[in-house]
Amino acid sequence: MKSGLARTLKRTESRCSCFRSPALARSARSYSVVSPSTSGRAESPLAKVLRDSIKATGPISVSRYMQWCLSHPVYGYYTQGDVFGQKGDFITSPEISQIFGELMAIWFVTRYIAAGHPKRCRIIELGPGRGTLMADILRTFDQLKSIASSLKSVHLVENSEKMRAVQSSNLDRFCEERDIAIHWVDRIDDVPPGDEFTFVVAHEFFDAMPINAFEKAPEGFRELMVDIDPENGSDSTSCSHSGLRLTRSREANSSALLIPATSPRFAALPIGARVEIAQDSWKIARKIGEMLQRSEPGSTSSSAGGAGLIVDYGADKLFPDSFRAIRKHEIIDVFDSPGESDLTANVDFAYLREAIEGTGTSALGPISQGQFLLSLGLQPRLQKLLASNTSPERKQDLIKGAQRLVDPVFMGSQYQIMGLLSGAGEGAEVYPFPSLVPTAAEPGETRPDS
Ligand SMILES: C[S@@+](CC[C@H](N)C(=O)[O-])C[C@H]1O[C@@H](n2cnc3c(N)ncnc32)[C@H](O)[C@@H]1O
Repeated sequence: MKSGLARTLKRTESRCSCFRSPALARSARSYSVVSPSTSGRAESPLAKVLRDSIKATGPISVSRYMQWCLSHPVYGYYTQGDVFGQKGDFITSPEISQIFGELMAIWFVTRYIAAGHPKRCRIIELGPGRGTLMADILRTFDQLKSIASSLKSVHLVENSEKMRAVQSSNLDRFCEERDIAIHWVDRIDDVPPGDEFTFVVAHEFFDAMPINAFEKAPEGFRELMVDIDPENGSDSTSCSHSGLRLTRSREANSSALLIPATSPRFAALPIGARVEIAQDSWKIARKIGEMLQRSEPGSTSSSAGGAGLIVDYGADKLFPDSFRAIRKHEIIDVFDSPGESDLTANVDFAYLREAIEGTGTSALGPISQGQFLLSLGLQPRLQKLLASNTSPERKQDLIKGAQRLVDPVFMGSQYQIMGLLSGAGEGAEVYPFPSLVPTAAEPGETRPDS
């Protein structure tokens, strides 16, 4: 969620040994060391709910912890409202520069033209935030009459009522003026099947999907669970503010037996290795693959195929300990303020590709955000915007925003973009992605083409 890395972050440390991210710690980003105990903030109401639940029924998985923290019906982070922007907890690429959404739209236009100008299209966005990206895409589609007139509906996958209200206020009129129907659903499974050409976009959505965390012991995988820290009461001061901590289960639970078996990369991990696995991401990616697949002639379903873009921070490999919390543009302890900070984990794009395999949809890349945006014309677009703006302040904003999106140390490299396309096969090249290579990634390694 959460443009973790889009944000200028400071790192807050506690003496909890929970999740550490060497990759993050190594990044050139500056960070401050702030003890959560000195924050002086009142404990979050969700911390007590979580402790009471753990007392009653035992430790909970990290995925359950994330679900509660992000989507609890009363105290969930996204349930409570708009958390974006300089004044919020983080700022995302579409909020930084309109060029981001415009160039994503341009890629969709290339796929639309390659598909022979389908007469009817729809667009699905997962995790639409404020609706800014969708507005930028629709505005860019206006430039090509055939695509603008073919687009019949927008489907927003959003489970927060408050975020839906923000999206509605930013998109309703926009869609009405273009005669585009707008629908909200809680889950991608609720988007109705359609025979239109389908565009799918997910920016900073998969990083919000709950992860389960495992460690490989000599006897097999063991799940890492969220438990009450025995050294801390409800007024915990020495560790996380919430009195919660991470522990390793002694026994193999069903998740530890099942989930790590979902990829050969997990099975190949050495003893002592940790891995974060987002099962929901697998299911959602699979569903997207199925939705974009073109129907075979004579089949009972009729789908015109489609194209998708998944943008997130992460890489084409698994991650051992990227789970983190973000609040007021700082990285803080994941247990410091449940429900009051964004929780996020890097996206394992290789896992998404594994999910899509066999659906009839191809996964392209991922490539870096910098490479994608520069290949699609970020520089000329910026020049055009500069030429049509007279205000020096606005010009500076445009330049800074564009630079930020492609900065090779931060957003330009930390964000990766995966393309999805119905059909396409090995050897196919779909600009700006490299040709499809049938290489399985090794555990922890990046594919040669990324
Ligand atoms: C970090 S924001 C990204 C927003 C937007 N894509 C952007 O870049 O500005 C994550 C979005 O996903 C939504 N979201 C988070 N978890 C979700 C879930 N399980 N189901 C549906 N939407 C979810 C949030 O409410 C929010 O709109």
